[in-house]
Amino acid sequence: MTLPQPYYNDNKNSFAYPTVHKRWPLIITGAIRDVETEIATKKRTGGEEIVTALNKLLADFKADKPVDPFPEQLASENSDLRYYNASLAALNSTRKVTWLTGPWLYLECYLYQYIHTLMVGDWSDFDVFETLKNSTFQLSELGVTELSKRYQALSKELENASEGALEILFKEFIDISLWGNATDLSLLAGNVSLEDIQSVQGAEVRKKNEQYIIVNDLPQVWEKIKSKNKRIDIVLDNSGFELFADLAFSLFALDSGLAKEIHIHCKEIPWFVSDTMPKDFNNLLHQLIDKDFYKTHDESLTYFHDKVEAYVKKGSIKVGSHPFWTLDCNYWQIPKFTDLYENLSHSDLVIFKGDLNYRKLTGDLEWDPTTPFVEAIQDLADSGLKVLSLRTCKADVVVGLPKGLHAELAKKYAEMGEDGKLWASSGKWAVISYSGGKK
Ligand code: F6P
Ligand code: MG
Repeated sequence: MTLPQPYYNDNKNSFAYPTVHKRWPLIITGAIRDVETEIATKKRTGGEEIVTALNKLLADFKADKPVDPFPEQLASENSDLRYYNASLAALNSTRKVTWLTGPWLYLECYLYQYIHTLMVGDWSDFDVFETLKNSTFQLSELGVTELSKRYQALSKELENASEGALEILFKEFIDISLWGNATDLSLLAGNVSLEDIQSVQGAEVRKKNEQYIIVNDLPQVWEKIKSKNKRIDIVLDNSGFELFADLAFSLFALDSGLAKEIHIHCKEIPWFVSDTMPKDFNNLLHQLIDKDFYKTHDESLTYFHDKVEAYVKKGSIKVGSHPFWTLDCNYWQIPKFTDLYENLSHSDLVIFKGDLNYRKLTGDLEWDPTTPFVEAIQDLADSGLKVLSLRTCKADVVVGLPKGLHAELAKKYAEMGEDGKLWASSGKWAVISYSGGKK
């Protein structure tokens, strides 16, 4: 079968175009500022080379320079970079990869890997996005407190809840986790206000948003989960509010007995600005009980914290990471990464959070939007893995739609005074897509 082509950075009909021209420069400029601030604290030595390299990166973008492979010396120390170099060589053989014209997904992954390679010596554990992650989570106080109160009120009743009640709550906590994905710092790049944050968090917003879930395979998932005692894996996306929402889902699933174990998969390096690394998970837990972090410290936050901590101690919540998640590979390749595949094969449900995970599930190709999800995820559909994608749509690729819906939504988005063809990257709509992993 001939596959569709990927989205390219010079495609003016794609969200790639504004991303590369506006958002990436903003993200890199922010990173330069944060490295400079860190240099000023004098806690780390050097750092000027990082600023120079980031400035060069900005200039290379603007000049649409060809993208270089990672130097052999670096690749010999970090085998992840070999994957990038191999892909780049293959891509170059069909069309020379330059910053403003190359394939969007590949280059976006390359960008974050590249920034990471600059962090050496004293800087090797420096997360250039950490300040932004923390300050945004601080602005999420209202949404966080609302959710922790809701969880606390519910949690005691969960053990004895009827199947019907659990089904309703399962749907609600999945919704919470889904829309938690609307708080993504690479989209809100640079100028996050309290108003921005509140417009994407909270129960009222979620209720209003229900009509915007355009694919919903949740009933199939419930049929698999309702017999309880499942192992659920969550391939996380963003830290901060989204992680908090994923933990709310995890607590619900464990308290109710639907899950016996939750395995959480983090990124090993700073990634797409706000993605969760294991230390972000720890930071968030600490922030929940830090009385200086939130102005009005509701006691439900401590309750939430203690529940998560107890489950972690008991081994019911396991937090891990794997370098695969920060390679440029799409997820059809998971079965080739045997240790990861073997691990995920023990799961009853692998939840992939967010937009980037969806892009990697579908290869970020220009699929016809009516292509079934199981076709767009190729080999993964026959891998035995039960895949659930919870994604607010923030990039062009979208599959599994009924005929005509794509055009209808473009029209609707245009009527809202926006650029209709970009409806799928607006973050207004969402999909819940499932593949049973038939084997
Ligand atoms: O920069 C583009 C992008 O990959 C978009 O797809 C999305 O807006 C964002 O970055 C990442 O979103 P998420 O955190 O949901 O994966
Ligand atoms: Mg993300």
